[in-house]
Amino acid sequence: MAESFTVSGTTKKEKYESLLPQIKALIEGENDTIANLSNIMAALKYGMDFFWVGIYFVKNDQLVLGPFQGPVACTRIDFGKGVCGAAWKEKKTIIVKDVDQFPGHIACSSLSKSEIVLPSFGKNGDVNLILDIDSEHLATFDETDRFYLEQVMELIGKCSAV
Ligand code: SME
Repeated sequence: MAESFTVSGTTKKEKYESLLPQIKALIEGENDTIANLSNIMAALKYGMDFFWVGIYFVKNDQLVLGPFQGPVACTRIDFGKGVCGAAWKEKKTIIVKDVDQFPGHIACSSLSKSEIVLPSFGKNGDVNLILDIDSEHLATFDETDRFYLEQVMELIGKCSAV
């Protein structure tokens, strides 16, 4: 595992490119899912300075809160509900520029203004968890975030395959 962790760069692209190899190094040689996801959440939160970063696991017919960094959050989300439930149902990344414009958005914190939610798929092709990242600012997330965070999801998929 990496002994130090520092994200360099000024642009979002530079920061993600500095972050990704460090995330790889962080989980190398460790096969415990919770340990790896916990470190990835910390790396994203502190590396990219996001407001809230967390995992929700698919458990039966709900999403259940997993490793996260940031303020306390909702523990359970139903299939199809909120941005997280919608990403699970539609099996795709969802970028929300303004949470107030997303019908059914679940406000865990009134400070959250925009978010991106990405699904991860198990061996059977079903969604097994989702990554949710929230920002205190409007329109924080765009195609650059999708591009790099989908690479993070591949790493998450490798360390959490069920
Ligand atoms: N806003 C999310 C709920 C999770 S919290 O933001 C951590 C949603 O609408 O699904």
